[in-house]
Amino acid sequence: MMKILVTGTAGFIGFYTAVKLLELGHEVVGLDSINDYYDVNLKFGRLAESGIARDAVAYGKQVQSSCYAHYRFVQLKLEDKAALDALFAEERFDAVCNLAAQAGVRYSLENPAAYTDSNIVGFLNILEACRHFGVKNLCFASSSSVYGLNETMPFSTNHGVNHPVSLYAATKKSNELMAHAYAHLYGIQCTGLRFFTVYGPWGRPDMAPFIFTKAAFAGETIKVFNNGKMKRDFTYIDDIVEGVVRVILNPCVSDKNWNSLEANPASSSAPYKIYNIGNSDSVELLEFIQAVENAAGVTIQKNFMPIQPGDVVATFADVTELEQDMDYRPNTSVHEGMQKTVAWYRDFYKIT
Ligand SMILES: NC(=O)c1ccc[n+]([C@@H]2O[C@H](COP(=O)([O-])OP(=O)(O)OC[C@H]3O[C@@H](n4cnc5c(N)ncnc54)[C@H](O)[C@@H]3O)[C@@H](O)[C@H]2O)c1
Repeated sequence: MMKILVTGTAGFIGFYTAVKLLELGHEVVGLDSINDYYDVNLKFGRLAESGIARDAVAYGKQVQSSCYAHYRFVQLKLEDKAALDALFAEERFDAVCNLAAQAGVRYSLENPAAYTDSNIVGFLNILEACRHFGVKNLCFASSSSVYGLNETMPFSTNHGVNHPVSLYAATKKSNELMAHAYAHLYGIQCTGLRFFTVYGPWGRPDMAPFIFTKAAFAGETIKVFNNGKMKRDFTYIDDIVEGVVRVILNPCVSDKNWNSLEANPASSSAPYKIYNIGNSDSVELLEFIQAVENAAGVTIQKNFMPIQPGDVVATFADVTELEQDMDYRPNTSVHEGMQKTVAWYRDFYKIT
């Protein structure tokens, strides 16, 4: 049994990751600032689902879960270096999974400082805490958005990712670079996961699957960007979490075949690895909307619009390496995944 810090556990992916690790018998400390980037009721809902009562939560105070004997949660900001260091000094974690971040491409045009605070300063504090408090196993969230202007499909971790089109993507690429430096200097085994459009029950209200589902039941018109000519590698949450947990339990090692004269960007002579984690199936936006319509049993009104600044036209993950190294096998179609997502939405928002 390992003692694992999972950050972002009031968030979508962090919540599921913590629960899965607990079900496998590990001890988990969850951390989240519970910021109000989107509806905090959803964040407290996820916490309640994992046994953390809303009225027990207070900044800097640990809360014991009522469902899982080995789960404690603390509201904390990654930027709060003194409090983070104190937590690491006290707990002596075996592994850290950093999923807390300021997420969202479009919001990074409105509030760029939120991204440097959480994703750059916050991530540096995580790396420094790992360095000074003996944590050798770090898994962290990157994003498919790092592929930016690259249009070679499917996206491979062997491709260059030097052309981000949002500050969000630039912070995620920066995390990969920062992690490599710490892997090289201090031998911290760092694995970065580039997530591809994750959806499912308890999903994020700022993302298309949730927005479309909400619109379906509220009779609202949805904005269909780039006139629907967009493709996304939509990945169901259960498939994602399966991959994340496998990576936490199998920390990367240095690549013995790594050649500095033909440097593979996704591995290193240091213990460092970058994986794509997606469904490896790029779905047309209009087909995805149809999956939402089928699951909700309604036709959604659509307003076709041009592409938004910061957006990429298509994403499509090559996940061969994760399949080979971790036996990762995503197997949820968007139709099956949206049935489950819509069923959760009906239940959570009490839609009859
Ligand atoms: N969901 C996706 O499709 C997707 C795609 C690519 C990358 N990612 C990345 O995966 C990770 C998890 O994403 P998610 O979808 O669960 O997002 P989320 O917003 O639901 O969860 C992130 C959580 O981090 C917390 N947080 C933000 N800044 C913090 C800080 N400074 N200190 C402590 N907590 C902080 C937030 O309160 C939130 O609950 C993020 O790093 C995100 O960038 C997600």
